[in-house]
Amino acid sequence: MVLIYSVVTVALAAFASAANYRRVTCPDGVNTATNEACCVFFALRDDLQTNLFDNQCGEDVHESLRLTFHDGVGFSTTGAFAGNGADGSIILFSDIETNFAANAGTDDGVDALSPFLTRHNVTAGDLIQFAAAVGLSNCPGAPQLQFLAGRPNATIPAGDGAIPQPQDSVDSILSRFADAGFSSNEVIHLLASHTVARSDTLVPGHQAVPFDSTPFTFDTQFFLEVLLKGTGVPFGINNTDGAEVDSPLPNQGEMRLQSDFALARDSRTACEWQSMVDNQALMNQNFFTAMMKLSNVGQDVNSLIDCSELIPSPAALTKKEANFPAGTNASDVQQVCSSTFPTLSADTGAPTTIPECPDGDINLADCPS
Ligand code: HEM
Ligand SMILES: *[C@@H]1O[C@H](CO)[C@@H](O)[C@H](O)[C@H]1NC(C)=O
Ligand SMILES: *[C@@H]1O[C@H](CO)[C@@H](O)[C@H](O)[C@H]1NC(C)=O
Ligand SMILES: *[C@@H]1O[C@H](CO)[C@@H](O)[C@H](O)[C@H]1NC(C)=O
Ligand SMILES: *[C@@H]1O[C@H](CO)[C@@H](O)[C@H](O)[C@H]1NC(C)=O
Repeated sequence: MVLIYSVVTVALAAFASAANYRRVTCPDGVNTATNEACCVFFALRDDLQTNLFDNQCGEDVHESLRLTFHDGVGFSTTGAFAGNGADGSIILFSDIETNFAANAGTDDGVDALSPFLTRHNVTAGDLIQFAAAVGLSNCPGAPQLQFLAGRPNATIPAGDGAIPQPQDSVDSILSRFADAGFSSNEVIHLLASHTVARSDTLVPGHQAVPFDSTPFTFDTQFFLEVLLKGTGVPFGINNTDGAEVDSPLPNQGEMRLQSDFALARDSRTACEWQSMVDNQALMNQNFFTAMMKLSNVGQDVNSLIDCSELIPSPAALTKKEANFPAGTNASDVQQVCSSTFPTLSADTGAPTTIPECPDGDINLADCPS
């Protein structure tokens, strides 16, 4: 009886909220939305997917996702750096901000997104966050990110020095993020982004050098591979001024950032890092929550409008956990966290091949940016 009563109550509550929840018909006459402010994003979504992302988790998605960091962390709670966070300043003041050393390579993402500002009536800050959330939905395994609309256009550029660099120490990275409002755990959560990341700038003569063996899927492989013993640098090129350290798969063209290496092995962050090695659901929950924060740095969240219904649901992954790339095994793990390391299977046989560019380019090193 009690059970039946509560089921009826829940059903009535759901009915009541559905009845109060009017959808508006958008000016396009086709789509409906919970709020009229979301309407403009339908056409923007189609335009991005068709004309920039090709509905794939490729280079332009990676670059758009990276922009959320380089825009959002231009913010300081203590006033050490100018900047209003996730406000689109990296696009609106690109002449200034893309020249900062930490922002090397961000001009590609800015150039790719800027035409969408003239074609759609949205602000630069909304464009960056929306493009990243829509783009990430093309990456199998990724969480479906939140998207709030209504960030005002930036009025000032962010200051130089606000964005951490791959050469930086853990102390410096954690204190800079703390000043931008992020805990050390949140820094590690955000780095799940590097599972769909490649460098265009750090290895001279080579573009799109991946950070893990699966740069087109949002899986936990990155958290495992950064913990493995490094054996060399890809293409035998070592002149990046401390940004790069040895990777475990140099012959497959994989590189490793010094900052990722150090954060994976620092006593303050190693356990948070290790916790995600075999836990896709945890990694996704962590990343979802940390991205919600990154996307709203410096914004009055209460004045933004929830348009998350515009973000597509990403495809699921068939592979559920990381495994040791061929030629590596548990003895290659450089473990700092004292918790038991998860038992993972190992690939056997031929060396792991890192997939070619999604546009069909055969030579990974020549992937267009
Ligand atoms: C300690 C903090 C971080 C450092 C030092 C760092 C550094 C870097 C560097 C050096 C690259 C290669 C850029 C290039 O040469 O093209 C890169 C790529 C990337 N980063 Fe980070 N990053 C950090 C945090 C983040 C965060 C918080 C995000 C986003 C949430 C992010 C997302 C990305 C993505 C998606 C790429 C790939 C871009 C591409 O493939 O074109 N990073 N990062
Ligand atoms: C652009 O959007 C703003 C609010 O988001 C609105 O006030 C303005 O009228 C729109 N402009 C055009 C040309 O539609
Ligand atoms: C924001 O800036 C862009 C680029 O200058 C412009 O196209 C857009 O209309 C601006 N939006 C608002 C609301 O001011
Ligand atoms: C790369 O160069 C740095 C600085 O000269 C050096 O410490 C490091 O061992 C070198 N790494 C490789 C793989 O040669
Ligand atoms: C890892 O592989 C090496 C040989 O490459 C082997 O000597 C070692 O016993 C293996 N360790 C484990 C834990 O499987």
